[in-house]
Amino acid sequence: MIFMNDKEIIINNILNRRSVRKFTNENVDEKDLELIIKSGMSAPSALNLQPWEFIVFDEEEILEFMVDLHDYSKMFKTATAGILICGNMEKTIAEYRELWVQDCSASIENMLLAIEALNLGGVWLGIYPIKHRCNKLINYFKLPENIVPFGIIALGHPDDENKKQDKWDEKKVHWNKW
Ligand SMILES: Cc1cc2nc3c(=O)[nH]c(=O)nc-3n(C[C@H](O)[C@H](O)[C@H](O)COP(=O)(O)O)c2cc1C
Repeated sequence: MIFMNDKEIIINNILNRRSVRKFTNENVDEKDLELIIKSGMSAPSALNLQPWEFIVFDEEEILEFMVDLHDYSKMFKTATAGILICGNMEKTIAEYRELWVQDCSASIENMLLAIEALNLGGVWLGIYPIKHRCNKLINYFKLPENIVPFGIIALGHPDDENKKQDKWDEKKVHWNKW
């Protein structure tokens, strides 16, 4: 048996993360959902503005709406929960406004890693800046004007073959010069 120390466990979690698009019908524990959101809120953000908001959903009607959100959202046929992360424009500062996109991206990646650590599975669905996807969500959730839908995580208990990829590519690493 191989025993891993804490560092190895964390690095392995990052290296093993993969998108999961098929789920069992077991629900995600509410405590786990909270831990996932907490991980999302621990992300770095420009000027520490934390311009994110989260809509967590597990109701059948909402999950069904998500199936037809766009061409690549069919995993909601089996996902038992979802998280819509939004940017709060009131938490941004004019000159640096566009950095909210990076802040929310970091938050999503944190949540995906938490999902992996909890032996759950999830996948990131791109929303912003695709206008018609944003508009569908703005209308559906009746989002206030200052709230921009950014991305969705579909999640649940994995029901697929593990197919993590090794993405290491030495050619993409430039030491000290291009
Ligand atoms: C910005 C962004 C948008 C994505 N949108 C979708 C999507 O709409 N549907 C989907 O199935 N996967 C989506 N993905 C997941 C990617 O397809 C996936 O990360 C990629 O194929 C690499 O696989 P891996 O996550 O297993 O490493 C998205 C990922 C990112 C970062």
